Amino acid sequence: MADYLLAIDQGTTSSRAILFDRTGNVAHVAQQEFPQLFPHDGWIEHDPEAIWNTVLATCREVVKKSDEPLSCIAGIGITNQRETTLLWDRHTGEPIYNAIVWQDRRTADACQRLRDQGHSELVQARTGLLIDPYFSATKLSWLLDNVEGARKRAEQGELAFGTVDTFLLWRLTGGQVHATDATNASRTMLFNIHTQQWDDELLALFDIPAALLPEVRDSSANFGHTEACLLGEALPIGGVIGDQQAALVGQACFQPGMGKSTYGTGCFMIVNTGDKAAVSRNRLLTTVAYRIDGKPTYAMEGSIFVAGAAVQWLRDGLKLFDNASETEALARETRDGHSVYLVPAFTGLGAPHWDPKARGAIFGLTRDTGIAEIVAAGLQAVCYQTRDLQACMRDDMEATPGKLRVDGGMVSNSWLVQFLADTLDVQVDRPTVLETTALGAAYMAGLHLGWYRDLDEIADLWRCEQSFLPQMPEAERERLYQGWLAAVERVKSAP
Ligand code: G3P
Repeated sequence: MADYLLAIDQGTTSSRAILFDRTGNVAHVAQQEFPQLFPHDGWIEHDPEAIWNTVLATCREVVKKSDEPLSCIAGIGITNQRETTLLWDRHTGEPIYNAIVWQDRRTADACQRLRDQGHSELVQARTGLLIDPYFSATKLSWLLDNVEGARKRAEQGELAFGTVDTFLLWRLTGGQVHATDATNASRTMLFNIHTQQWDDELLALFDIPAALLPEVRDSSANFGHTEACLLGEALPIGGVIGDQQAALVGQACFQPGMGKSTYGTGCFMIVNTGDKAAVSRNRLLTTVAYRIDGKPTYAMEGSIFVAGAAVQWLRDGLKLFDNASETEALARETRDGHSVYLVPAFTGLGAPHWDPKARGAIFGLTRDTGIAEIVAAGLQAVCYQTRDLQACMRDDMEATPGKLRVDGGMVSNSWLVQFLADTLDVQVDRPTVLETTALGAAYMAGLHLGWYRDLDEIADLWRCEQSFLPQMPEAERERLYQGWLAAVERVKSAP
């Protein structure tokens, strides 16, 4: 009998392969970072071969680490950075351009034109999204219009479009499967989240030939088998789910009103809204949380583009420390209530501001500001931005979470999580398994492969490692947050 599920977590800065046992505990991990390419201001690309090579290498490494035969692995679940857009040749499997990453802002003007032409209402009604360069549609149009011969080849059916999950499925199955799941499709701005179909009117609006599109399946479904030559044996792929939705599943937020916030490259707060596709009045997104047995569950999402990426910038750009784990000790050195604010709008501002032209800044520097204060300000910015989202969700939804489950690399920093609980004024729970994104993908595969009966059985496996309760006096909480709001106003682009 098989012992493990293999989760592939293809993220923005690294690829990871993780073996989970039946109780959702991590058995082995392999991880490889890959380069971020910045060809112009606001442009971010990935080399598709770097994505593929790191995925394959980490899968092979983790299998080797387990030191067990491949028959011990029941199957594979895939989770991925969402929205990132690829276009490849159906015959050779070769991408025709680099992957355009979700953070890339090159289509900001195109989005502005679409908004000016009055298309926002249609797009939000069909997709739950706001017109922004973040999503795949305008990135795909850009590829078709700017890579020589691409549009003609697309119309002749020679090319295939995919987000990263689709590209990996294509490569893993040797070109046998051109598919995605409903969560990834819901981030393209081409998918009608109510009918669960690609939307012809949106395809016309963005000038996208339907021949490019993958088939949309459930998140827990048959996605084919890996080519035997890749890992030594053909393994079934039973789950595909976008990474933020995967974290919602890994955190077992299956009841309406339950929510999680994941602190990876960006920060994404998602609250389950059940079978209701609730519409935000506050510029949050409506998205598919997961789709099982053809039935979509919806969620409301607030997306912040820079969280861990700010720590990465403090480390690699400013060289303020060598290892992210040092940020906790540095933050603890600062005196309470310092008023340095770092607004990490490196790639514009996401929810709820949606200002692609805003840029970052540091405010409140004094003669005694040092590395510790700047690092703390970077961490605090993540908490203040989560509060921005919380305020929107409170206004938008009848049932907002009285507690928040958190995960992602940054939350191993207990100072950060305490500051988060203080800023939000709610209990923040950190689970024992912090690899919730990969875990969600493993659960989707496990559900399909019969390891778990239903979501209730999965929910029973969730364990809290530590709860953080708010401790900050109300007046201080408000003083600090008002300072943040003022700082954000100062980085926004002119309307
Ligand atoms: O929407 C972008 C998101 O999926 C990226 O996630 O974990 O790579 O920051 P992450």
